[in-house]
Amino acid sequence: MALLPILRYPDPRLHKKAVPVAEIDDSIRKLVQDMAETMYEAPGIGLAATQVDVHKRVIVIDVSEDKSRLLTLINPMIVEQDGEQVCEEGCLSVPGIYDKVSRAENVRVRALDVDGKPIEFHADGLLAVCVQHEIDHLDGKVFVEHLSRLKQTRIRNKLEKQARITA
Ligand code: NI
Repeated sequence: MALLPILRYPDPRLHKKAVPVAEIDDSIRKLVQDMAETMYEAPGIGLAATQVDVHKRVIVIDVSEDKSRLLTLINPMIVEQDGEQVCEEGCLSVPGIYDKVSRAENVRVRALDVDGKPIEFHADGLLAVCVQHEIDHLDGKVFVEHLSRLKQTRIRNKLEKQARITA
């Protein structure tokens, strides 16, 4: 296993649209292991392959208190959604920035697990937020793009300044 470098907003590679996984082979299984290790180490509750510069539709999530319930979703899709919830979000690609985003309250998710088995489940609360946030990444969208233009500009300037200082 290996820790993977996480792309930071406003890196343009975060805006690439990920392609579906055609076959779950050893390279995908290794990617999932490395992504899980990277997410736990960060620490975070979700990570999309896009964030580690792999543009395939793979996400890992663990919203459990004791980090014991790893959820791997390959080619995830939201097949039904309703309601609305506003939650303060953060992102490993946008360090130090937290803001409120409006999302669906309930989602029905269809995906493949790491063995290639089709799974379908209902999510609400934090898990629903996390699934929507990570699928956004696969579509090339970072959570700050749900915010106003003004806020996006401020966040971009702040992170670019930080990058210059730490470079
Ligand atoms: Ni994120």
